[in-house]
Amino acid sequence: MMNRYIAPSILSANFLDLRKDIEMINQSEAHWIHYDVMDGVFVPNISFGIPILKQLSTISEKPLDVHLMIADPDPYIIPFKEAGAANITVHIETCPHLNRTINFIKEQGIMASVCLNPHTSIESLEEIISVVDMVLIMSVNPGFGGQTFIEATYSKVAKLRKMIYSQGLNTLIEVDGGINMETGKRLFEAGANVLVSGSYIFHSENPGKRISELLLF
Ligand code: DX5
Ligand code: ZN
Repeated sequence: MMNRYIAPSILSANFLDLRKDIEMINQSEAHWIHYDVMDGVFVPNISFGIPILKQLSTISEKPLDVHLMIADPDPYIIPFKEAGAANITVHIETCPHLNRTINFIKEQGIMASVCLNPHTSIESLEEIISVVDMVLIMSVNPGFGGQTFIEATYSKVAKLRKMIYSQGLNTLIEVDGGINMETGKRLFEAGANVLVSGSYIFHSENPGKRISELLLF
């Protein structure tokens, strides 16, 4: 079986008691903490940025997986790395010089990943896939937690898995948005490695249990 990882998205955490949620993740079977940065330009919402990541990194025992939903990511790569990012994901739709951006992230000594919006095809990765550590497939339109999973994602993941195998690579596939037990199971079956999940984990009586259950398949 392929490696399977869970990355809880703290976009759905309780910001009045964030330490408690980070400690829950520290004690859980989760592998990473997913950190959603939104600028109100590329996506119609604003979340959090560099100072909060820096504080989180002092108490998180899990690597910080930073998802940049921002129109111009290049100037922010070093600040996010210095604030504690272990991975930086940029959107293909925001990077006219994606090869340069990915190499620049790698030069900082961290993982470099690219994200595709639901309407962006897998074929657009053909020339960049061998350079990235991970591809993040959006299974909702980015900007908000708690949205409904887009069904076409399963075939997209399967197609990407084929591309990765056919090029002899070991690129990770991460999926983000609308993930619960049912969609999560089918995504792992389709070839995903990393599931990001926000509301399903945090809007629950027992978030740690939900994390473990997502890994049961
Ligand atoms: C959406 C974000 C997601 C979000 C997922 O733009 O990128 O990471 O937190 O939330 P759920 O799991 O609630 O769909
Ligand atoms: Zn995300």
